[in-house]
Order: sequence, then structure tokens, then C-alpha cells
Amino acid sequence: MFVLGIESSCDETAAALATSERDVRASVVLSQMDHLPYGGVVPELASRAHIRAGLPVIESTLEEAGVGLDDLSAIAVTHGPGLIGSLLAGVNLAKGLAFGCGLPLIGVHHLEGHLFSALINSDLQPPFVALLASGGHTELIHVRKLGRYELLGATLDDAAGEAFDKVAKLLGLLPPGQFVMGGRAVSDIARDGNPQAIRFPRALSGRDTYDVSFSGLKTSVLTHVKKLREQDGPQAVVDATADIAASFEQAVVDVLVDRTVRAVAACNVSHAALVGGVAANRCLREQLASALENAGARLVVPDIALCTDNAAMIASAGAYRFAQGETDGYDLDAQPRLPLPGLTTSN
Ligand code: KG4
Ligand code: ZN
Repeated sequence: MFVLGIESSCDETAAALATSERDVRASVVLSQMDHLPYGGVVPELASRAHIRAGLPVIESTLEEAGVGLDDLSAIAVTHGPGLIGSLLAGVNLAKGLAFGCGLPLIGVHHLEGHLFSALINSDLQPPFVALLASGGHTELIHVRKLGRYELLGATLDDAAGEAFDKVAKLLGLLPPGQFVMGGRAVSDIARDGNPQAIRFPRALSGRDTYDVSFSGLKTSVLTHVKKLREQDGPQAVVDATADIAASFEQAVVDVLVDRTVRAVAACNVSHAALVGGVAANRCLREQLASALENAGARLVVPDIALCTDNAAMIASAGAYRFAQGETDGYDLDAQPRLPLPGLTTSN
């Protein structure tokens, strides 16, 4: 079985080839640079770039895997949630290819893709708890079975990755004209800082909830920076940047570790998975792994390349759905807001 996966929900054009949910033969990700002058993703530019890059990225993937279009069994594509123009570019490309080659089409939910990233090259079996932390989402999910998910908690405001991105911006860590992920920039500089230097708030701590909230934390960092600048001048902010970054990062990590460890105990599972772009964070990976180990559980984290947006996870989820006999019609639609299939909410 060879399932081609296509991902284009935001600003990464990606394709991958999977033979099962655990085995990915090739994965190509093209991060768009078109947005650099604008300081954020410009949806219209993203759609155009997906249209330009889609076929070449697929060709490179097939070449890397040594597989031709004739060998494919099915085509899986992210059909939501995401930017409508970006999704349409991927969905239409997938539909055209599937129709032209007479292949089944499988629509994959972007977040289900992130959940499946934990299965690639691993022996992780449900039930497990997944912490999905990315630029657009922060959700704690009890994966009872593949395809059966229970939402335990979520962010009430900013996603964890979004908080990293905003703090990177306000600390001036994003060099103009270069592509650096905000979270990466904060965690790189945080290595030289003291995570205990400033006690930033841990919202909702001690409450009986798996929800998180990061907007107050971001405002605290902003207030701290403004106060320091007013009292001691701009150089004082520069000198304190590593400590501020490390203290902010520690506050995010503490909150995410607390919720995940409690969820693992409450769901009585032996494994947790950390997925999404923020799973690339070294402190979070290390501290969550050790907290879970102390609680008698094990953490599974995908390779860094599988944490941020990619198509390997889409090909993996598509291969699983295809093996279950689940396919979609050629009328599959792009849906900017799409609920995770099989999701129930606790309480
Ligand atoms: O999963 P992803 O590629 O895209 C979404 O679906 O949102 O996640 C991107 C997010 C960004 O907010 C980025 O700043 C964050 O993941 N991120 C990190 C790190 N690397 C990427 N956050 C914290 N630490 C990192 N090392
Ligand atoms: Zn994502």
C-alpha cells in the first residue's frame, strides 16, 4: 500500500508517502518564504505559493521514495482546519490527481494528522493522552482508540505556540528578512538565561481543570519589559532578555507538564504523546518526559521534523483510514473550521 499525503493548511507545502500509519518512506516540506517582508502569513500569497509548489513537491516525494504515480493506492489530503485558500490549493490538487489516476481520495483533519505523527516509527498504542501544542492549537486529548478522541482540556485564549511567537516578537528576537520560528528563537536564547529569574504567572494552576490560558502570561512579559525599559533603559531589557525568555518558557512548560501528568493519572494510561510545533521545545520534551517517568508513565515524542507541519503525518493518518476502508468522494471540500472526527468532550 502506498498512500500519498498532501498538506497545505497554512504556509508549508508538503507531501509524503506512507505504506502504513507507522511507516513513512519519503517526506518533503517546503516552508514558504513569500511572507518574510510582512511579519506574518499573508493568506493570498500562501495560496499562490501552494499552487506553484504543489506539483514539484509531490514529484520530489515520489522520486525520493522511488515510487511512480501508477504505484499509488490512494491520495490523502488535509481538508481542514486552516486557511481556506491554502486548503483549497491542496484539496484541488489532490482531487485532480486522484480523479486523473482513478485513485481513492481521503480527507484528513490537520489535528488528527498531528496525533498520528506520534505513531510514525514508534510502537505507541492507544489508549494514551496526547498534548497537542502548536501555533494554532493547545489541546489535551485522551486517545481511547485511533479515531476515538475525548477532549480533556484546551486553551481558553492563545495557543502555546502563539504565546511563544508573540513573546519572540516583543523581545525583538525575530531578525528582519529571515525565517525563524518564534518558539525556536525564544528557546535558543533561553538556554543562556535563568528560568527562576522572574516568577511569571501560571494561570488556572491548582484548579480542577485541564484547560490552560496564556494571554495573561504574555501580558505579564510585556508589562515586565515595559517597566524595565522605563526604569533602567533599553540596554537593561537587552541584558535581561535571556532571563525573561527562560522564565517565560518555564512558566509555559510548568503549566503544560502539570495538565499532562494529571491527565495521564486521571485517564489511567501508561503513555503520553507530545505533538505539534511546540513539541520541538527541548525544555518541554525533557521536563515532561522526566515528570511522567516519576509518575510511572512514558512520553513519546516524534522526531523534530514531524512536530512542525508536515505531510508525513497526513500520509500516516490517510494510510490508517484507507486500511479501515474509509475514503471520501471527489466532492471532498476544504473546510477552514472543521471539528476533529470522533471527538467527544468530557463532562
Ligand atoms: O504545528 P505547527 O508547525 O503549525 C501549526 O499547526 O500551528 O506549529 C508552529 C508553532 C509556532 O508557534 C512555533 O513558534 C512553535 O510551533 N514552535 C516552538 C518551537 N519550535 C516551533 N515553540 C516552542 N519551542 C520551540 N522550539
Ligand atoms: Zn499544525
